[in-house]
Formats: sequence, C-alpha cells, structure tokens
Amino acid sequence: MLTREEAITAAEAVAARYSKDGQVVIRDVMVRDGQVSLTAQGVAPAAQTGFEAALREAVARLGAQSVHCRFRAAAVAGEGTPEAKQGAGSGAASGAGANTAPVRGHGAGLESHPLLRDDSNVQFIAIASGKGGVGKSTVTVNLAVALARQGKRVGIIDADIYGFSVPDMMGIEEKPEVVNERVIPIEKFGVQVMSMGFFVEDNAPIVWRGPMLGKMLRNFFAEIQWGDLDYLLLDLPPGTGDVALDVHQLIPQSKEIIVTTPHATAAFVAARAGAMAIKTNHEIVGIIENMSYFESKSGEKEYVFGRGGGARLAESLNAELLAQIPLGAPDNHPSEADFSPSVYKPDTEVGRLYLEIADRIITKCES
Ligand SMILES: Nc1ncnc2c1ncn2[C@@H]1O[C@H](COP(=O)(O)OP(=O)(O)O)[C@@H](O)[C@H]1O
Ligand SMILES: [Mg+2]
Repeated sequence: MLTREEAITAAEAVAARYSKDGQVVIRDVMVRDGQVSLTAQGVAPAAQTGFEAALREAVARLGAQSVHCRFRAAAVAGEGTPEAKQGAGSGAASGAGANTAPVRGHGAGLESHPLLRDDSNVQFIAIASGKGGVGKSTVTVNLAVALARQGKRVGIIDADIYGFSVPDMMGIEEKPEVVNERVIPIEKFGVQVMSMGFFVEDNAPIVWRGPMLGKMLRNFFAEIQWGDLDYLLLDLPPGTGDVALDVHQLIPQSKEIIVTTPHATAAFVAARAGAMAIKTNHEIVGIIENMSYFESKSGEKEYVFGRGGGARLAESLNAELLAQIPLGAPDNHPSEADFSPSVYKPDTEVGRLYLEIADRIITKCES
C-alpha cells in the first residue's frame, strides 16, 4: 500500500526536476485507496502537462492508481502554510497584486467573484457525511427550502458529481437556460439550484477524473449566473475526498453540517468527515441525525437503526446536535401542483423540524 510519505518523496523528486531554485513546492498531499491528491505550487503553466505526466508515472511506479494534481501559482512571500516546504515564497504570484486575496487552487482568479469576495455576506454551508444513503441530499434540499421559507435568499450547489440527486428530489424537470454564455440556475421552492445533473444526457454515468472534478466546482461559480444570495448550500459527495478539498481551497470560509444516522457505525464513519472539517478549519454548525426513529400511528417511537449515533458524534466533535429527524417520506402526490418527491410541506411534523433547524442556523450564522 502506498503511504503518504512515499507519495511526498516521489512528488518532491519530480518537483526538484521542475525547479530551477526550489520554486516548485508540493503540499496538501493526501493518499486514499491508492489515489493521490496534492497541490503543486509554482509550476509554470507551460510545464504543467509534463509535470503531471511525470508525477503520474512516479506514483504509479509505487502502486498508486490515480493522481489528482492541483496547480497553484508560486506563493507570495509570507503566505506559506505550515506544511509548505522551504522554498515557498520565492517570487510573487504572477498577476497577484499586494492587496488581492491569496490564489486558491482551482479558485485562482475567482477571488473577485461576487459570491466569493471577502466582503460578500453569503454564508456557505457544506453538507457532509461519512457515507452515502444517510440522507445528506434530503437534508440539503429541505434545509434550503426551509431557509427560503424563512425569507432567506438561498442557493444549492449539488456537488455530488456522480451521485447528483437534487433536481430529482425537488421535482425539477426543466434544464437551465444559458444567457450571455452564463447558465441561469433553476428556481424551485424559492431556491436557486445548480446540479451536474442538468448537464448529463439520459442519466449517463460520468467518468470524469480528479482534475475535471476540481474544475467542475470552479465552473459552478465562474459559469453560473447566481443572483444575490444569503445562503449557499453545497451537497458534497460522501466521504472526505477531492471535492471536500476543493471546497476547502475555493471556499475556506465555508461552514459544515454533518449528517448521520443513529447507528453507531454510521456515526463512527461520519466522525471522519467531521475530522476533515476540523482539520481544514471549517466550523461545524452542527450535526443532523436522520432516520432517527419511526413513529407508529399510536405515537410510539421505534428506534429502527439504533440510538445515540448523532449525540455521540456531536459530543466527539464538540458540536451541537441540531435535530433528530424521523423516518418517513413526505406525503406528496404527483398530481399536486409543485410536486416534489422529497420536500416536506411546511405544515407537517418534519417540515416544522426543518423550519426549526433553519431558525437555529440563522441565529448561529447571523448573530
Ligand atoms: N428521514 C427519512 N425518512 C425516510 N426516507 C428518507 C429519509 N431521509 C432520506 N430518506 C431516503 O433515503 C434515501 C437516501 O437519502 P439521500 O438524501 O439520497 O442520502 P445521501 O444524499 O446521503 O446519499 C433516499 O431515497 C431518501 O428519499
Ligand atoms: Mg446524495
């Protein structure tokens, strides 16, 4: 099994070949399931293709299956992170004036985007989970709708590139329009929605690799005509992979909500997503325990998937357990106007729960 140390050694050997005086710096190295992801700083644009090929070859020799390399301009003096090796700080980033924010990976050049600017008041909340199927997208969609019901301007980025489900869950059937080469998000239930699903024909599988994934998140800002927003929710893919890292680079100010089921194993796996949030300095707004119990007609609660996972996770991450949401699909019917399979109506028990979570989040984010 390829270790992180081996990957660092191999990557630094390649970096040395591409450096005249140590200006190429390797950082953010992660190794997971034979996949290497890292940031290379200071590789000249013309040399990036060759660099990536050399890197791929070097780590493939050690048994890595794939490598995802983010390129960044050379660090401005003083900007280096603790992991940045000696050599960082040689030369100013091309085009970066003294007053611009640091260039951020795939976000390079996006610092002036209205949503990402330092003076933007948008609250970014990434919805994360350790594994799939726990209700992350259901929570994203219903929380977004609840925030909109409380009068907030809300957007969703469905960043689960392989497992996109937000359009279906919200009952969105139309495709977005392109105006002046910018894609207009689809609005439903007062929420602006953007999803990879809008660009995939006939549910065909997406076989993009790392670099494309990173660009995808970038494109969700650069190519999309977002209006004014108070909240932008990101439905992340499950786990702690590349997209989570890209969110970190592009939106370092993002906060996170972690979704788990009450099962001990699920909560244990979710703790890894929590650890990732802590490691990347993303404030955890809270934990949502989903599928907590089934309430029978007589009002009795049955804890179908066990008990206490959410509370234990909240304790271990020193975060608030925002809610425990019971099992039960929304009682919506396709014949209704504005039908959606997954959005709970505001006057239902679960709909009210989401309104309470929205209130709590507004208090936490805006006070
Ligand atoms: N509280 C709940 N009660 C019943 N079904 C739920 C609940 N939450 C989610 N589901 C269903 O479980 C499945 C997985 O939820 P989803 O939100 O897609 O999870 P994830 O995004 O984490 O993979 C979906 O079919 C969804 O409709
Ligand atoms: Mg999902």
